[in-house]
Formats: sequence, structure tokens, C-alpha cells
Amino acid sequence: MSVVIARNLTKKYGDFTAVDHINFEIEKGEIYGFLGPNGAGKTTTIKMLTGLTPITEGDAEIAGISINKNPREAKKKIGWISSEVIVDDELSAWENIEIQAKLLGVKDWKDRALDLLNYFGIKEFKDRKAGKFSTGMRKKLEVTMALLHSPEVIFMDEPTIGLDVNTRASLWNLIREVNRDYSVTILLTTHYMEEADALSNRISIINKGKIIATGTPDELKEKYGGDVIELEIKKDEIPIDKLDQIGKTIKKDGKITIRVSNAESVLLDVINTVGSNNIKSLKINKSSLDTVFLNLTGGSLEDNQEFNAKRFYAMLRRATR
Ligand SMILES: Nc1ncnc2c1ncn2[C@@H]1O[C@H](COP(=O)(O)OP(=O)(O)OP(=O)(O)O)[C@@H](O)[C@H]1O
Ligand SMILES: [Mg+2]
Repeated sequence: MSVVIARNLTKKYGDFTAVDHINFEIEKGEIYGFLGPNGAGKTTTIKMLTGLTPITEGDAEIAGISINKNPREAKKKIGWISSEVIVDDELSAWENIEIQAKLLGVKDWKDRALDLLNYFGIKEFKDRKAGKFSTGMRKKLEVTMALLHSPEVIFMDEPTIGLDVNTRASLWNLIREVNRDYSVTILLTTHYMEEADALSNRISIINKGKIIATGTPDELKEKYGGDVIELEIKKDEIPIDKLDQIGKTIKKDGKITIRVSNAESVLLDVINTVGSNNIKSLKINKSSLDTVFLNLTGGSLEDNQEFNAKRFYAMLRRATR
């Protein structure tokens, strides 16, 4: 069963098309990654799915409910988490949750909130000011708030941006656990290849408003990636032609790189062709999402511009009023 279905979903700002007729389906229980550079249209897509910005063309369904036809009902099925936001430092965790419950119109929220706080191990800190929380605790509070109304799907717009390596790793675990223990479907956007790879069951790569590839991380690597064998040789005269039949071969400064679909399966062939006593060093670089992205877009990821969380939250308040 699909929890999110987007059909020709399109957003135009004047003449500019930020999201261009995209189609995707997210299955129940999936962690789905949206991977793309700055300005690709990731946040705009999430804003259309959460009803924060009008859809220009096309539609999307959340748990079978059309956003165009029934935005209020669709919104009830959604929780969202962004990079910093939603937590008010001056209020206690509990007060923050209470505000969230009011914003979402959830009535019997207290037991659910206590269960969630207990699950995340922060129940004993519920009366502490959120401003005194560590980053990790804060994330747990944000997830508690997003899960309060038992949504079918949660959207996470760049959830780990600005986190140190350890906090990021524990947030990855948290995302996996929440997905498993609360059977909640997750759509996350990220700039980090390894994040999409580590967390997502499936990924859509989005660039300039268009989805240019969709698949499991392995499928994408298989299709658009490619391993690279790097060789350093002792003598200069080697049969480049023969190597080129194995995979695209480039020779530069005594270093040879061969791009192949699976390095292990051709390794012996390569060694025999070059001659084992002619090899100074040999290295295999396995295909990664980085290679996939580069192959697909021909460009690299630029530095991310900070997501404007405050503005997003202000918009949510307006939208839920
Ligand atoms: N309110 C707006 N008015 C005009 N253009 C907009 C508006 N919001 C976004 N855009 C443009 O739409 C495009 C997509 O922006 P969006 O924020 O969805 O990208 P993104 O993939 O989330 O990028 P990032 O990784 O930087 O967060 C960008 O070119 C952006 O400048
Ligand atoms: Mg964005």
C-alpha cells in the first residue's frame, strides 16, 4: 500500500518551475530519501505535501486522501521535523508538546506524549526548559512532537544538518527505530549521499525540479555507479586497448583507472592483462552514491544553504490556524 502518491506534482513561482511534474510513490513503512543539490526542489515538494504552499499542477495523496480535495484531512496524516525549529527554548519540553497538541488539534495527547518521552528516554526531563536540552535530547523532543498525533508519514527536511558526527549517528539510529517501532513511513531529504544510502529503502534523485532517477541505493549504484580500479604500474608499456575492453580505461602519470560495473569479477582479468609483476599497487573504489549523483547530473553538490526553519514554522502556524 502506498502512503504517499505524487502525480505530476508541480510548483511554479511565476515563470519559474521549482518542481516539475514529479511522480513517486512511497510504500507503507518505507524510509524514502530525496537526494539533491541546493535548489533542486526538495523543500518545495515537502511544502506542497504538507499543504504549506499551494500545488500549481498535479496532486498528491496522503494515506489515500487528496491534498487538493481534502487538505485538512490529509494534514492530519502528516508529521514533520525540520533542522532546528519548532522547539521554544523558554518553555519546558512538556509545554512545547502541549502547544504542538493544540496546533495539531489533538485532544487526548498526554498518555501518548508520556509514552513517547519514555520511549526516547527523556521522560524525567519533561519539565526542564528545552533550551537546556542537549542537541540529541532536543531531536528526541522534536520527534515526540511530530509523532504526537500518530501520523502515517513524517517528513524530515535535512534532519541531520549541522550535527556533529556522533549526534548524527545516533539520530540515524533514532530514525530507524521510530520507523520500525511506530510503523511510521518516513520521507527525508538530504544532501548527504551516505545518509541517503544508510537510511533509505529507496531514493529519488532530484535535480532542477525533476526526479532523474529512483531506486534502492543498490539499484542506483548498479545502474549509474560503477567501481573504479586504480593501478600503479612499474613499466610504462601496457596494453591499454585490452584494458579498455574490460572497462573504460584512463592512463595518467603512471596511474591507471578502469571503470567497471563490478571490480571483483574482472580483477583477475586486469591483473593478467597488466602482468602481476608489473603492478606496484592496486586499489578498488566501490561504487557509491557520489558516483551515481555525478554520473546523473554531471555536477557536484554545492554547499548547503541553511534551511529557514523559523519561517517554515511561522508558515505552519498560519496554515494550522
Ligand atoms: N517562495 C519562493 N519564491 C520564489 N522561488 C522560490 C521560493 N521558494 C523556493 N524557490 C525556488 O525554488 C527552487 C527550489 O527550492 P527548494 O527550497 O525547494 O530547494 P531545495 O531542494 O530544498 O534546496 P536546498 O537543498 O537548498 O534546501 C529554488 O530555485 C528556489 O530559489
Ligand atoms: Mg531545502
